[in-house]
Parts: sequence; structure tokens; C-alpha cells
Amino acid sequence: MNADVIAAGITGRSLASIDDFSNVELSCVLSGAADVGAGMERYGDVCRGKIMASLFFEPSTRTRLSFETAMLRLGGQVVSAVDIGATSLAKGETLADMARVVGGYADIIVMRHPWEGAARVVSEHAGVPVINAGDGGHEHPTQTLCDLYTLKKDQGHLEGIRIALWGDLKYGRTVHSLTWALARFGATVVFRPGAGLAAPQYVLSKLATDYGGEVVSGEHLRRDEVEGVLPVDAIYVTPHSPHQLAMLPHMSAQMELDRGVDALYVTRVQKERLRAEGDDGQPLKYPIVNRRLLKTPGFERSVVLHPLPRVDELAREIDSDPRSLYFAQAHQGVPVRMALIALILGRMPAGISCSESPSDDWVPTAHMEYMHDTGVQCPNERCVANQPTERRYLRQRFKLIDSTPPRLRCMYCDHEVEVMAVATSEAYDEPTSRRKYHSPTSRWANAIRRDNLLVFSSIQDAESRGFKPGAKEKVSG
Ligand code: NCD
Repeated sequence: MNADVIAAGITGRSLASIDDFSNVELSCVLSGAADVGAGMERYGDVCRGKIMASLFFEPSTRTRLSFETAMLRLGGQVVSAVDIGATSLAKGETLADMARVVGGYADIIVMRHPWEGAARVVSEHAGVPVINAGDGGHEHPTQTLCDLYTLKKDQGHLEGIRIALWGDLKYGRTVHSLTWALARFGATVVFRPGAGLAAPQYVLSKLATDYGGEVVSGEHLRRDEVEGVLPVDAIYVTPHSPHQLAMLPHMSAQMELDRGVDALYVTRVQKERLRAEGDDGQPLKYPIVNRRLLKTPGFERSVVLHPLPRVDELAREIDSDPRSLYFAQAHQGVPVRMALIALILGRMPAGISCSESPSDDWVPTAHMEYMHDTGVQCPNERCVANQPTERRYLRQRFKLIDSTPPRLRCMYCDHEVEVMAVATSEAYDEPTSRRKYHSPTSRWANAIRRDNLLVFSSIQDAESRGFKPGAKEKVSG
């Protein structure tokens, strides 16, 4: 498969999640960005006649301006809305209706929105490609493209790099998309969150179920408390790691940790999201990345990335350090987004080369969609499927993650539903007296055919549908 075929495959596609593009496709965007960067003026007419709608319903400087600059530099034009209060969404219009309307005006939509999964919904209704420029605390796939571009340019490759994610890993959406992409490209990821800001379970869980590596909890590692260094909460060891000893994941994680990191990815505390969660808005303290930290064992060779804006977590004294890549990273936003828009609009000039080999491309794990109505709700109140306007037409949708115990993952925001009981749909053919539910970890649960598996998030849900506890079975919860 040559690069032009890969590029053609991107035409017309949306990028709501980083997992919407394969590794080869992401690499193709990065190669395109490198080509744009080598002579931007060659691209000045590429998108002539095309219009991009730029909808930013949360604050933005870099992402919005770099997207709009990108489209203008491609010779296209931009229409924009930056305040939700100035759009019909404020009048109670649904995202789906807005998508249909804007999709009739523009050839491509770029949207930032506070609801998690909002870009996915818009992409399902717009009729034109949609790019997620940040959906609440969930994902920010184009920032990840800038991050990968910067890392690859600096390190020469992504496979095998070791990178520490530092700070607010809970609400930092850039970290979520980046974690998944790094895992897919075979990096080792060390999680160093501020207190109470660990990466959410749904982010970590995908590492094991979809990307095949091991997540080892920090508790199992030797951790020297070093002043000014955030402690390790967990480490992801890629299946590509030379240290991945199938039986000894803790030992390989320790070995990876002892080698230090090639890159440090720093984030600010996402105060606005903490406040929305009922936090009092007190500034959370975490150590400042400064000259001293960059001399600490494990960080002596690390380059520093940050999606920006910074607040106090990066000392200004390191701005002039050649290892500080964050301003260059922000500048890459224009060529990266130019390549992405040109590819999606099918206007990328032929002949860019893609370095990644398609033979070992990553393909998304094919989890089955859960099709039964057992009253399961996404537990994330910021999920688009839980918003009153959207509930008028949007149904809750989940993927069945075939693990023990089985889990349901929201198809919009990736949050997982805790499963309290399971049963088989074949029981609906039985008299009510014979309908039984079981513990999700029981051998009965394992024996149920996956397309017959009924999942309940509470015992009451099971019982209200006429199911009774399975014989001699203890069901927790
Ligand atoms: C990030 C964002 O909006 O998620 N900024 C960006 O797009 N470069 C990070 C942040 O706001 O902290």
C-alpha cells in the first residue's frame, strides 16, 4: 500500500477520537505535516473554495487560532462561532440539529465543546467530516498529533520511547488521547499525577484491553521519594518493550523506571473542571518543573513538552533550555493541522511518504456493541448522552468489553459501567420463575454467549426485570 492510498483512505473521515485513525494514518498526517513544514507556500491553494466551520464553545487560543490559520494558509475560508450563548444551542437546540445545519454550510467542522462525546455526536449528524478540538475532559486528538509530531521530530521515532506524564492526568484531556496513542506506538508511559489527579480508570483500562500492554501500579515498584518529583502512580509497559517478560511485569516496569525518561509531558491543573466537580477551586500544588528537576536522576536527558497554557508548573528559567520544546510544539500546530485538513478534504498533493509500515498497523479492537436494554446508564454526568437536550434523540450506547468480569464502555465518552450482575437473554424465553442473575465473576457469567449476555448495573435493575439470584450464588453489591 503506498502513501497515496493511505491518504485517500483518510478523505472524508472524522477525527473524534485518536483511535479513529490507525497508526499508519496518524503517521501519514505527521509525514504530511513535515512536508507542509518544509515549504508552506506550496500549499497556498490546496483548499481553495473550501469552508471550515470553527466552533469553539470553551476557551481556546492555540487550537482555534492554529486551526483557522491552517485553513487560511491552505487557501480556504473560515466561519466561526465562539460563544455557546450566541448560538441556538443556548435556545435548546440539539447538537444533532446544529450539526445538520452547519454541515450544510461548511465542508469541514472543527469543534470544541464541554460535553464528553459531543464531537462524536456531531460527526454522526453533520454529513461532513468533524474534528474534535477537545470534548470536556475526555479527548483532544489533534493536540496529540502535535505532541507526536514534536516527539518524533526530536527523538526520531516513537516506538520504545519512555515518557512521564506529569500533573493533572485526571481532567487533562490532552493526556488521555496522548496516553492511548503512545501505547499504540509502543512507548513506555510513566504516570506521575498530582495528588488526587491520577489518570481515570477508563483511560488505564483501555491500555490493557485494547493495546495489549501491562499497567503496573506504582505500589508494586520501588519508589524513592525525591523532593520535587511527583510519585509514580502507575507505569504502562508496552508489549514491544525489550523488558517485557511475560511472567514478570513488575520487574520489567521497575527496569523501565530505572532507565529514566526521554520526555516529560507536563500539564497544568485543569481548575475549571475541578471547580465544576464541586472542588473549592483552591490551587492544587504540584512541584514546579525547573532547572533543578531537570538535573535529577531520571530526568537528565528528558525533553519537556506541555500542551500550554502553562500557569506555574513550568519555571520560566527553563524556557531557554534546548530541551524545552513546548513553544516549538505549539508552533507545529499549524503544519500539523494543515496536513490533517488537506488529507480529510482529499486535497493532499500526491507523493508524500509515510514511514510506518502498514503490515503491522494497529487496528482498533473489535468490541461488540451491547444491544440489550437493561437500563444501563453511562455513569459520567458530563457525557453527551446524559444531557437533557440530547436525551431527546440520543440513546445510551455501549461496547461490551469481554473481560472477567465483563464491562460496558460508553461509546461516546469511554467511561465504564460497573457491572453488578449478569444473566442470559435466553432467560426471557423461560417462565419468570426461572430467570436468574449471577455474579459477573462467576463461572455462569463466563459460560453465557457474548451476544446473549445481559448486564445490570444494580441488583434492583435485574430484579425489576423479573430476575432472581442464581442458585447458591453469592452476588456482591
Ligand atoms: C489544552 C486544552 O485545551 O485541553 N490546551 C490546548 O489545546 N493546547 C490544555 C489545557 O488547557 O491545559
